[in-house]
Order: sequence, then structure tokens, then C-alpha cells
Amino acid sequence: MADDLIIAKGSKVAQYESLIPQIKALLEGELDLIANLANIAASLKEQFGWLWVGFYLVKKNELVLGPFQGPVACTRIQKGRGVCGAAWLSAKTLIVPDVEQFPGHIACSSLSKSEIVVPMKHKNEVIGVLDVDSESLNFFDEIDQQYLEEIVALIQL
Ligand code: SME
Repeated sequence: MADDLIIAKGSKVAQYESLIPQIKALLEGELDLIANLANIAASLKEQFGWLWVGFYLVKKNELVLGPFQGPVACTRIQKGRGVCGAAWLSAKTLIVPDVEQFPGHIACSSLSKSEIVVPMKHKNEVIGVLDVDSESLNFFDEIDQQYLEEIVALIQL
């Protein structure tokens, strides 16, 4: 697929429902992980306009910055540190309504107010995380969790 992304309006559910088939088409026939993560980050940014959306990948027992859209970000995160490191350690999605209330939150951008981090798993092992930041407090909910987990599950390794 090389066409422009079709940007849906309406409810959050409607936006994800429109985007997911387009992401599937973008990934079809392409096995390069970085290319696919780059297109997922770009399509989520284009549809939702979040402050920051991107990936960190586990390399030699730390998270290293991968493809993303948004302001420059910290490059390495240790296991258990920040929201990303905590999601890696627990292997579970974390929704943080107010980053200032999260112990050890890593402030890559002072504009970030709330965050969701979804682990990417391969054979039950976390191999990276999808991280999304918003400029608004309390921005992400279970709908984002459900759809972002679905998107992360589309990634072939
Ligand atoms: N806030 C994250 C760090 C990554 S940036 O938000 C892009 C954290 O606490 O893990």
C-alpha cells in the first residue's frame, strides 16, 4: 500500500476501526521490523495527533529508542525504570493518567501529562514497548489499551 492514509473523524472507536485495516495493509508483505514500526508510529501520529508515539526495543537488557513521531526522546531506559521500564518488567500495559504521580516517571518532554505503554511480546518474552504520550491529563483509557494491544499483536517478528 502506498496510498495516503485515510483519516477518520468521529469517536475514538471509529478512528481505530478505520486505522487498523490500513495498518494491516501497510504491514502486508513487509517483514522488516524497523520499516513496519516506523509506518505504525507515523499512521498513529497522523490519525490521532498525539504528542509522542513510538517504540523502544529491548537490546542487551535495556530499552533503546526505535522508530517514533514527536519531539526528541531519551534513548535508553533500564528495566523497571519509568513507565516504559515498568511495563517491560510487568509485561503488562500501563495507563498513567498523570505522569507526575508515577514514581520514577522519565520526563522526556515537559509537555507530556499522561501516557500509555503497551509491551510487544514474542513467545511470551517482552521484546519492546509501544509508548504514547499526551499533552492532556487522563487521556488514555481501556479503549486505547484494547486497540493498541491489537495493533502491537499485528507486528511480525
Ligand atoms: N516517559 C517515559 C519515557 C519515554 S518518553 O515518554 C518518550 C517513561 O517514563 O518511561
